[in-house]
Amino acid sequence: MSGLLVEDETQFYCNAKTYWKNVPPTVDGMLGGYGHISSIDLSGSKKFLQRFLKDGPHKIGTSYALDCGAGIGRITKRLLLPIFKNVDMVDVTDEFLSKAKGYLGEDGNRIGNYFCSGLQDFVPEPSRYDVIWIQWVIGHLTDSHLVDFLKRCKSGLRSNGIIVIKDNMTQEGAIMDDVDSSICRDLDLVRRLIRHAGLAVVAQEKQENFPEEIYSVFSIAMR
Ligand SMILES: C[S@@+](CC[C@H](N)C(=O)[O-])C[C@H]1O[C@@H](n2cnc3c(N)ncnc32)[C@H](O)[C@@H]1O
Repeated sequence: MSGLLVEDETQFYCNAKTYWKNVPPTVDGMLGGYGHISSIDLSGSKKFLQRFLKDGPHKIGTSYALDCGAGIGRITKRLLLPIFKNVDMVDVTDEFLSKAKGYLGEDGNRIGNYFCSGLQDFVPEPSRYDVIWIQWVIGHLTDSHLVDFLKRCKSGLRSNGIIVIKDNMTQEGAIMDDVDSSICRDLDLVRRLIRHAGLAVVAQEKQENFPEEIYSVFSIAMR
């Protein structure tokens, strides 16, 4: 599908990189002017993740998480660091990772690595992570890069580990956004790409209480 929308892959990645270089390193910047929905988003994510932390045979560990397309660490600070002993962050914009060092405060000393890389090139270390969190960034990857990245993430999971994608979904089809150079896909398409990566969906939830005018946002957990 992205093959039809992305005429020039090099330009697609280059335009996104330029777009983000010009965005202020703030919560509002990370959320395109919707900074006020950050708390609702993080509460929803916490609730979504909690089900995997309950005692049971599939309980996830709490040693290490990876925040993908982490930006300044909005999610790392309020969702991941309170749960996991250590967190790695990966983002293509080095200015955001530099800002994260101050933004995270003292808890930032539990960040293992600040990886400056596009997810299309990033290779998570095998068997390292209990949770790999990928939020509001899959639109910046072509279909085949997303599938390949998810395959590498699968190898990056510890036993019982999960990958979570939380992102905007269209009602139907894929839509290109030329402003930030991203593709918004529908839920069926995202689930198809997940399947192609050899992953199975274990939970899915629509984020409630977001403004009417924005895309629907879904959390999807897989392993
Ligand atoms: C909408 S922001 C979301 C940031 C964070 N996930 C959050 O929810 O607060 C998108 C982030 O993706 C990063 N990004 C864009 N393209 C990327 C790519 N190809 N690989 C890794 N990060 C990318 C941007 O630098 C930016 O930090």
